[in-house]
Amino acid sequence: MATPVMDKAQATATADYITATFRIRRFNPEESDAVIWEDFQITIDPKERVLDALHKIKWDTDGTLTFRRSCAHGICGSDAMRINGRNRLACKTLIKDINPDKPITVEPIKGLTVLKDLVVDMEPFFQAFRDVMPFLVTEGNEPTRERLQSAEDRERFDDTTKCILCAACTSSCPVFWNDGQYFGPAAIVNAHRFIFDSRDEAGEQRLEILNDKDGVWRCRTTFNCTDACPRGIEVTKAIQEVKRALITRRF
Ligand code: FES
Repeated sequence: MATPVMDKAQATATADYITATFRIRRFNPEESDAVIWEDFQITIDPKERVLDALHKIKWDTDGTLTFRRSCAHGICGSDAMRINGRNRLACKTLIKDINPDKPITVEPIKGLTVLKDLVVDMEPFFQAFRDVMPFLVTEGNEPTRERLQSAEDRERFDDTTKCILCAACTSSCPVFWNDGQYFGPAAIVNAHRFIFDSRDEAGEQRLEILNDKDGVWRCRTTFNCTDACPRGIEVTKAIQEVKRALITRRF
């Protein structure tokens, strides 16, 4: 016998809704220098995501609530925020997984200037990314076909290709919080992606950039970055590999 298919209205009617409190850090420099925490109580299916809750609050209760998001599917990296004290992507965090029995705190990622509510100035983060030359550098010997690479050589940097530049790693790093001058895990991850690419010819140059006083040696191996990465990249391991390459000059 065929399984009856529920339409959207029926599915909505049978969802187990809960009332959850979202405690959101608010800041609007056009109105005041003060930071406040504001509670919003909403009725929502706990299988929905924090991003859905933020949309509900913005669309139904307070249109001034400000946050970034684009793809809503963990690809663009624009909605990293601190949820219950931990960096996560709002679009990848289910409400049921973060104990909705207590108020759920939502605040901007740390270490970057807050512009409004959950929106931070990402420019210093992207500047560090640009500084490590995140592009393939090859000189001369222009190929007439694509530059070939073995599966083993491609595997060498596969993990660090997954970065979506959400800044969850960099903004979870205590060294970065300290003065914001440290390149940060995300920039090093993206340097790693090219340093260990067999087709690239600027590995030495990138290593010298990261040999700076604000470079890779400032990492204190706290593993916050690895814990925070929503893509599961072994960030601390990548940083260690760059440190080792700086010592051995083998990559
Ligand atoms: S909205 Fe694109 S990663 Fe979450």
